[in-house]
Amino acid sequence: MTILDHPTSLAGDETENAIGLVEKYAAQNYSPLPVVAASADGAWITDVEGRRYLDCLAAYSAVNFGHRNPEITATAHAQLDTVTLVSRAFHAANLGPFCAGLAELCGKDMVLPMNSGAEAVESGLKVARKWGADVKGVSEGRANIVVAENNFHGRTISIVSFSSDPTARGGFGPFTPGFRAVPFGDVAALAEAIDENTVAVLLEPIQGEAGIIVPPDDYLPAVRALCTGHNVLMIADEIQSGLARTGYTFACDRWGVVPDVYLLGKALGGGVVPLSAVVANRDVLGVLHPGEHGSTFGGNPLAAAIGTTVVAMLARGEFQARSAELGAHLHGRLRDLIGDGVIAVRGFGLWAGVDIEPTLATGKEISLRLAERGVLVKDTHGSTLRFAPPLVITEQEIDWVIDQFVAVLRA
Ligand SMILES: Cc1ncc(COP(=O)(O)O)c(C=O)c1O
Repeated sequence: MTILDHPTSLAGDETENAIGLVEKYAAQNYSPLPVVAASADGAWITDVEGRRYLDCLAAYSAVNFGHRNPEITATAHAQLDTVTLVSRAFHAANLGPFCAGLAELCGKDMVLPMNSGAEAVESGLKVARKWGADVKGVSEGRANIVVAENNFHGRTISIVSFSSDPTARGGFGPFTPGFRAVPFGDVAALAEAIDENTVAVLLEPIQGEAGIIVPPDDYLPAVRALCTGHNVLMIADEIQSGLARTGYTFACDRWGVVPDVYLLGKALGGGVVPLSAVVANRDVLGVLHPGEHGSTFGGNPLAAAIGTTVVAMLARGEFQARSAELGAHLHGRLRDLIGDGVIAVRGFGLWAGVDIEPTLATGKEISLRLAERGVLVKDTHGSTLRFAPPLVITEQEIDWVIDQFVAVLRA
């Protein structure tokens, strides 16, 4: 099959059966496109009807290195034949090497391994509060953390406590206190919100779920300076923006900013296992003592093996370079469509938020039309689409994606 053989319809008996079971037996907390994956390879997904789709979401950047990346699956297969889980009650031989490698990649001293992205965020918040109590001297119960409006950091009670999305919060109260939200990109508002009890500023360097919102160039350097000046931890949630997605190891690198704490997830698990981490220096992560935090699966041997391979792949720099180079091509092709159904294009590397002329169609409608032509993207916030393919996509495949997008816009 060539990339020109794309589906013309999403219907099919296998598809209907699979979706019917999910609708009957799985909680309906998502609204997925009606495409049922049977297998996947590189940048491509094959559905249960045998139709192929170019994956331009990459599991929200968890599949940065491509589906079933051979280096990562080889590591996973080898580790499955040795040891997969002992819990942190004992030591596992590969946890130390994984933490050492990730700490070095981040230029930090220590790693706290967890599983999901939301867990890394929760853990980062706990670490910041404990640092506030033990190091900064903030009285128990008085700490506050400043966040950005329109953030997306996950789905736990504490995290939705500072979400500005009514759907994420409605019916889930009471909420966790101690958070202050200020407009993203507004240095003056941030400065105003910080007081003597502020222990951290938590930000996505580029807001992903909000529509790939890039802050003004002076914003993150100013946040860094404010945090340093007020003895406040700068926490960068790089769970979606990090690990080569933007053409840099971390999105913060674009502005030469080094946060005190990195929150990492998604691609860290190589698209195979959930693996997340809080990464910081000893004066920050050293505030945790035995019994104060933990996770049965956090840093398990299978995840540590995969994470070690992912870190080694990132240390080579080729995925960052690929994302930068192919991203320039993707953004160039998308920008050419401004005025032709597209209003704006944002982002860096192979990460593009595209605002569609709202009178044309909703983002969801465009996503469906694109799926019918063999391109999987996800809409966010009404009429914004996100293009975030696995970083193994080729230039020819990007051109093919854009051709499908043009055809959908014109139709
Ligand atoms: C920036 C950011 N932080 C945290 C999360 C939560 O990650 P997870 O879904 O693995 O809990 C996400 C998920 O999209 C995210 O984009």
